[in-house]
Amino acid sequence: MIKAANRETIGEAAGLLRSGELVAFPTETVYGLGADATNDQAVAKIFAAKNRPAFNPLIVHVKDTSAAKEIVQWSQAAEDLTNKFWPGALTVILPRQPDCAISLLVSTGLDTIAVRAPDHPVAKSLLNQAGCPIAAPSANRSGRISPTIARHVDDSLGPNVNLILDDGPCRVGLESTVINLSGGPPILLRFGGIEIEALRSIVGLMPIASENSEIKSPGMLSQHYAPDAPLRLNAVRPAQGETLLAFGSDVPPEFLNLSPTGSLVEAAANLFSMLHQLDDPNSGTIAVMPIPEKGLGRAINDRLRRAAS
Ligand code: TXA
Ligand code: MG
Repeated sequence: MIKAANRETIGEAAGLLRSGELVAFPTETVYGLGADATNDQAVAKIFAAKNRPAFNPLIVHVKDTSAAKEIVQWSQAAEDLTNKFWPGALTVILPRQPDCAISLLVSTGLDTIAVRAPDHPVAKSLLNQAGCPIAAPSANRSGRISPTIARHVDDSLGPNVNLILDDGPCRVGLESTVINLSGGPPILLRFGGIEIEALRSIVGLMPIASENSEIKSPGMLSQHYAPDAPLRLNAVRPAQGETLLAFGSDVPPEFLNLSPTGSLVEAAANLFSMLHQLDDPNSGTIAVMPIPEKGLGRAINDRLRRAAS
């Protein structure tokens, strides 16, 4: 059930989390499907509700770095990156603290845990009131487009979630950037809401894990983020029977436009909700105009390529 996020409903959500139930909540990136990360049964419900493969680990959401340090073994790179980007759209993967309370199911047997401090008033208040770290993947059925408004969550997961806290559209609109800091030099596992250029200014020339690499994220299978409708990328104009997802100023106003001014920040914020809008198996192919391969454009193109594959 969708409820507007306020003091009372956030309190209700915190109570549900503490009693082992699932709650969907807004973050600045996308809506998350949360469970008490220390409760095995609650975490198991996430996998069931999303139909998520049991090998795909979850991100643990925390209030701040001191909460993160109780869960994972900290490092200088973690300190430098989180100083600059937390709270925010950055997830860091670090070795699990040997005696930490986090459910082993969260990391699906890996000896690392992904942690993130979200920058959203509702997520922060929920973390404070629940008093536990919150395991939360994006609140969509596995393999589908991430939700950026409460209704997307309801459409995708429906009765599998007790409560969906609604606080309007997510500001960033793309999932967090994921970096592996669990050993050796930092490696980028997923493009996301924080630009790789900004991260490199802190950790140096950071390699990007490829699809085939050993250290890739289990969640980075190319079949991901799939809409039902087929996608054609780098389209200059729509062919007969196609709908156009436009970008930039040189486009007739009747088409949905990721950003008429050519802003990548605006395009990122609009991407999933416009894909949701156009995603109708009966309406033919979605032709997407080219997006520049820089800054947030890299994360946008990554999601588009996955959606098209
Ligand atoms: O913005 C976000 O990150 C959102 C919001 C809700 O925080 N969450 C999100 O979660 O996108 P999810 O589950 O859809 O994506 C998490 C990614 C997956 O690709 C997963 O494989 C990877 O993080 N991951 C999680 N723990 C990992 C670990 N220990 N090692 C490697 N990859 C990990
Ligand atoms: Mg996801």
